Amino acid sequence: MKIDMSLLYFAPIMLVLPYFIVSSLALPTSSVKNITTDQHALLAFKEQVIDPRGVLAHNWSVSHPVCSWVGISCDSRHHRVTKLDLSDSSLEGPISAHLGNISFLVSLNISGNNFHGHLPNELRQLRRLKFIDFNFNRLSGVLPSWMGSLPKLRMLSLRYNSFRGDLLLCYISSTIKICEEICIYVDLKTL
Ligand SMILES: *[C@@H]1O[C@H](CO)[C@@H](O)[C@H](O)[C@H]1NC(C)=O
Ligand SMILES: *[C@@H]1O[C@H](CO)[C@@H](O)[C@H](O)[C@H]1NC(C)=O
Ligand SMILES: *[C@@H]1O[C@H](CO)[C@@H](O)[C@H](O)[C@H]1NC(C)=O
Repeated sequence: MKIDMSLLYFAPIMLVLPYFIVSSLALPTSSVKNITTDQHALLAFKEQVIDPRGVLAHNWSVSHPVCSWVGISCDSRHHRVTKLDLSDSSLEGPISAHLGNISFLVSLNISGNNFHGHLPNELRQLRRLKFIDFNFNRLSGVLPSWMGSLPKLRMLSLRYNSFRGDLLLCYISSTIKICEEICIYVDLKTL
């Protein structure tokens, strides 16, 4: 009887292979997100922010549920943070990369503050974002191209910041069609 040597040779690999497939499919615990993830992200954001009026100081506290914090709205079905509205709150500081962990975020409004620095690339993870309002801050840098690939983005307001770059409006959205449909307020004079 002729034994196919090539099969024998591969047998040990075939035994091990399912293990690799299963282990690569299993989610590492760090990527399982829930309301605690949102809480950690918001507290990390708060830590980096100067808050002269004390808007967040006592309100964003672990002794109260995240969904009762000022500026926060949650989705009752998933019990996750969907809306962050800190407009006109005199806040100053960078936009924390940790915000990228609030994976159910639909609306992000920080207009009318003194946020500065670049937009962190982690925000590209917010695939459910529909509304971004960054008007009236001091944000700078080149507008990141991932803004154009946020699949649900409907409105992007970036007026009165210090962004630079010679981008066209359509660069921001992934297709011309979306480009016409979404309401983009980019003041080209400030780019
Ligand atoms: C956000 O997620 C990243 C990647 O999973 C993790 O390293 C980071 O610690 C998280 N931030 C917070 C505040 O939980
Ligand atoms: C935080 O602010 C919200 C909105 O103003 C308010 O409803 C809530 O009671 C405040 N929580 C605390 C603990 O002050
Ligand atoms: C953000 O907040 C400002 C001030 O409250 C409001 O005028 C604006 O419409 C809000 N933007 C979005 C996208 O909801």
